[in-house]
Amino acid sequence: RTRLWLDCDTGHDDAFALLLSIYHPHLDLIGCSTVHGNAPLTHTTWNTLSILTAVGSPDIPVYPGAEKPLKRSAVHAPNYHGETGLDGTQFLPEPVGLAMEGHTAVKGMRNAVMEGNGVWLIATGALTNIAELVVKHPEVVGKIEGLSIMGGCVGDGFTGANLGGKEKRGNWTEWAEFNIYCDPEAAAIVFGNEELAKKTTLVTLDLSHQVLATEQVREKLLKSEFDKGMEKPQTQLARDLRPLFNDLLCFFAATYRKYSGLVEGPPLHDPIAVAAVLSQAELTIDDKGGERWDVRVVTEGEHSDDPKKRGQVGRTVVTRKQEGEAGVRIPRGMDVQHFWQLIHDALTSAESQ
Ligand code: BDR
Ligand code: CA
Repeated sequence: RTRLWLDCDTGHDDAFALLLSIYHPHLDLIGCSTVHGNAPLTHTTWNTLSILTAVGSPDIPVYPGAEKPLKRSAVHAPNYHGETGLDGTQFLPEPVGLAMEGHTAVKGMRNAVMEGNGVWLIATGALTNIAELVVKHPEVVGKIEGLSIMGGCVGDGFTGANLGGKEKRGNWTEWAEFNIYCDPEAAAIVFGNEELAKKTTLVTLDLSHQVLATEQVREKLLKSEFDKGMEKPQTQLARDLRPLFNDLLCFFAATYRKYSGLVEGPPLHDPIAVAAVLSQAELTIDDKGGERWDVRVVTEGEHSDDPKKRGQVGRTVVTRKQEGEAGVRIPRGMDVQHFWQLIHDALTSAESQ
């Protein structure tokens, strides 16, 4: 099985990334670290612990990381995820596990990578912890199997995905996707590391907006298997699982409808970065036969509500590499139906724990 470490800011879609990392039969989640983002760090850490408890894996270690970006003050997304980062459900259990003490994300990731062979890092929040890791422990870059990031956006018809029907590519500002906007300096460090770029997969909004949790998807996904004659889940936690994930998707659908104008359903961004580590035999992912990219991040500009000051900060500017040259993989498409099947199967496996 492929070993994964998930660095997350657990909100509604990160919860599905946790679920898929734990329950895909070819993946093995060995640890998590948390970062500021959808909500303050205390919330994203609690949310991670609670989801791990909910899915029956409270023993997976959780290492808290950065409370704020490298050079800026923290930005959160209460409009999309609520004040807690995981609003909208009464089924979140009190965590059974405890987080590691202190801000030990970087240490936890370093040890996991150096002591285990072939570990993938998955980043579904701001890139602060990952940037600190590669700056403090450059030896990890040669040792990791790969880095899969959810972040950024290309636009300009890169895929033809539904980005909300407006003339915009970003989801936080016109130019920037939220995770990159949260800590653009960290993102610039990560994408600026050439050795790391070769091992990086970037799941942008151009891909994640092809994966909308429409009403039809939600209906199919969340229909409990035991309705179809399977045995009823044994424990209360297992019985609460589908209602919990259903609530999360419904809340996310409602906030997306309200704030982004995307009425069909919310894009389920983060678990795609997990799915992207699967081999083609397990999930078809289209990178146009191996095209690779140079990724630059715009850092000139302020975090501000004033669009004049904000400029293009957090924008990801991508340039296609020549054939055969190394660079970041930016998938343009994938087998979306199969992806939903993987999520469905993960829920079913979690239920029967
Ligand atoms: C990203 O931002 C967060 O709100 C989501 O969890 C996802 O990681 C999408 O832009
Ligand atoms: Ca996230």
